[in-house]
Amino acid sequence: MMAKPTKMTATAPVKPSTPRHFLDIDACDQATLRVLLDRAHAMKKAGRRPPHAIQPDAVRGATLLMIFEKPSMRTRVSFDLAMRQMGGESMFLSDQEVQLGRRESIADTARVLSRYGDAIVLRTVEHATLLELAANATVPVINGLTNRSHPCQIMADLMTVEERLGDVRGCVAAWVGDANNVAHSWMHAATRLGFELRIATPKELAPGPEWLDWIKAEGGRITVTTDPVKAVAGANCVIADTWVSIGDNDADRRRALLGPYRVDEALMARATPDAIFLHCLPAYRGNEVTAGVIDGPQSAVFDEAENRLHAQKAILAWCLEGQ
Ligand code: CP
Ligand code: NVA
Repeated sequence: MMAKPTKMTATAPVKPSTPRHFLDIDACDQATLRVLLDRAHAMKKAGRRPPHAIQPDAVRGATLLMIFEKPSMRTRVSFDLAMRQMGGESMFLSDQEVQLGRRESIADTARVLSRYGDAIVLRTVEHATLLELAANATVPVINGLTNRSHPCQIMADLMTVEERLGDVRGCVAAWVGDANNVAHSWMHAATRLGFELRIATPKELAPGPEWLDWIKAEGGRITVTTDPVKAVAGANCVIADTWVSIGDNDADRRRALLGPYRVDEALMARATPDAIFLHCLPAYRGNEVTAGVIDGPQSAVFDEAENRLHAQKAILAWCLEGQ
């Protein structure tokens, strides 16, 4: 039976202690995030075929089962290659095969896949589906994107910030556009790592009160405004994402609301001169960002995309070492 969608809350409603899932950044403390980022940097330095010394024993020979209910290029390819380069392997399972919650219960799928593989990545729409899978799996489950969050993406983004600007705690990040799943994971990261995040978004698409309450309770340095210029002024990292995410069925409304939130050269000029531009991709030039910005000298989007591979290695090693 299909899981009922749960209300989206700012903090993860399920935090299983074992196995070591990677479901959301708010479930990780600052020390864990530091370990993951340091390892991601080390993996990048080691190159495509990491030497034996940093090829984690826990990953060598392991199998990652990758369930993608929705399209993906970067997430799928980077997880697959991360496993291969660390001496493990992966298997891709489409929605067609698995039919999560339709052909059989999500719990039964979790139990069976846990007998076959060593870890599971899931990309799905409803975050509740991910939580149900994780609650019933005996191997680590990794969030490959839900309507709530995209934590693996943000680990690569933080890595990119550190490469370009130094310690991420010095980052002043400005999110411009829909306060969507990727923005949520930035909110988690800013709160856990203590850097400043400003979100410029139309009030209709702003983070709900549960997010604002969570930020307040956790002491996050996050402000929400409807004014993109205010958010970007003096920031050293400007971030945009598609105006229409997977699962959104109100594209016309979003395009109308988000028209004033395009990151163009004039907006980028309000940031610091060394500011970088990030976008998780795929990008839609002329909508959320102009070609001049995303293809310009301040754009770090292809480093960011490459860093998905290195960050996935760190996440996989961490999850599998916890088994
Ligand atoms: N950024 C990202 O997750 O890309 P894909 O949808 O191609 O995996
Ligand atoms: N916010 C986008 C990110 C794609 C990687 C989406 O959910 O579709």
